[in-house]
Amino acid sequence: MNLLITNIKELVQVEINPVSRRNGTEMNQLNTVQNAYLEIRDGAIASFGKMKDAPNATSWSGSDVIDATGKMVFPSWCDSHSHLVFAASREGEFVDRIKGLTYEDIALRGGGILNSARKLEQMDEESLYESAQSRLKEVMALGTGAIEIKSGYGLSVSAELKMLRVIKKLKDNSPVTIKATFLGAHAIPEEFKNNRKEYIDLIINEMLPAIQKENLADYIDVFCEKNYYTPDETNLILSEGKKIGLIPKIHVNQFNAIGGVQVGVEHNALSVDHLEVMRPEDIAILKGTDTMPTALPSCSFFLGIPYAPAKEIIEAGLPLALASDYNPGSTPSGNMNFVVSLGCIKMGLSPEQAINAATINTAYAMELSEEMGSIAIGKKGNVFITKNIPSYSFLPYSFGQNVIETTILNGKVVT
Ligand code: NIG
Ligand code: FE
Repeated sequence: MNLLITNIKELVQVEINPVSRRNGTEMNQLNTVQNAYLEIRDGAIASFGKMKDAPNATSWSGSDVIDATGKMVFPSWCDSHSHLVFAASREGEFVDRIKGLTYEDIALRGGGILNSARKLEQMDEESLYESAQSRLKEVMALGTGAIEIKSGYGLSVSAELKMLRVIKKLKDNSPVTIKATFLGAHAIPEEFKNNRKEYIDLIINEMLPAIQKENLADYIDVFCEKNYYTPDETNLILSEGKKIGLIPKIHVNQFNAIGGVQVGVEHNALSVDHLEVMRPEDIAILKGTDTMPTALPSCSFFLGIPYAPAKEIIEAGLPLALASDYNPGSTPSGNMNFVVSLGCIKMGLSPEQAINAATINTAYAMELSEEMGSIAIGKKGNVFITKNIPSYSFLPYSFGQNVIETTILNGKVVT
């Protein structure tokens, strides 16, 4: 698709020499062009610059030109952590938490992830696909152009495969770029409570071969946490996943620091996610690695748990990514605009840092930085146009409101 966007008040996050991620102080840099144009040809960014250098709009067909006077253009958000496929909401648990139970109390009495697994078991693949597709459309309208989606509410061979097939179908049918993660090790199913080794064997000997056969996943995840999977179990599952080409991207340090970051680094994980509870050694070990530290501030907001120490991570010279964690239990929202707002309001990031964290650094955490995450020639024509706003800082500032007017993916207006 070809598209010319003219009279852009400010074109945000342009790159002449694209980088794969931004580390430490590099996260302060957000290049923009004021009074700009953006030209997309065959779905990819062909050129951009000052309006005075724009291609002549009269040589374009009228419907392919958008006048963005007073509006800003951003690269689409990249959401590198979500559990977008699920069968049912869990507002009952939300009310229980308001009344005083903790996330852990609810999980220990068989709620939480196991509650979602029971619901998912009962839902057929088509209905699951439809509900996920409608959530995907909602996040697309909120500016998301790429998203990682995990399994992990199946917890049986058939239900994990059902989830992964749904993710594959979303991949094949949506303009949003999708990466699939196998999270069979999300919780220990009730029936394996007294024999967790048997469930881990099932993951290794039955789930992984089936996933390889149907080519259903890009990444492998484990919830490395007290009452879930130990660092040794995480190590084993990641090693087996890597044998069939799945790159690790793991849940660590959400409630307890038990060595998950270290296991992730040992396996050269693409990202380690959550990081609400970080010891100095957990930050130190990430230095000089290829692993992207990823914070999920909407989860902290919703559960009332600490926020990842974003500033300390960046001050250590590390990159930081911000993703949604969209799921029915700990984060019933996939709104990346709110994630960016929380990055600023609750984690003390500057708008420049938060925007880099939700675009180029999350693109890196999905191996997509060459295709997305900034406005650069040759990258996908994935952008959103805002309403009339005074500055890019207005986006995180006006939390809870939607400042996005138009979403464009692969050069095509989608909402
Ligand atoms: O990332 N922490 C583990 N998994 C999800 C929550 C899962 C759930 O409660 O359904 C998370 O927060
Ligand atoms: Fe998660």
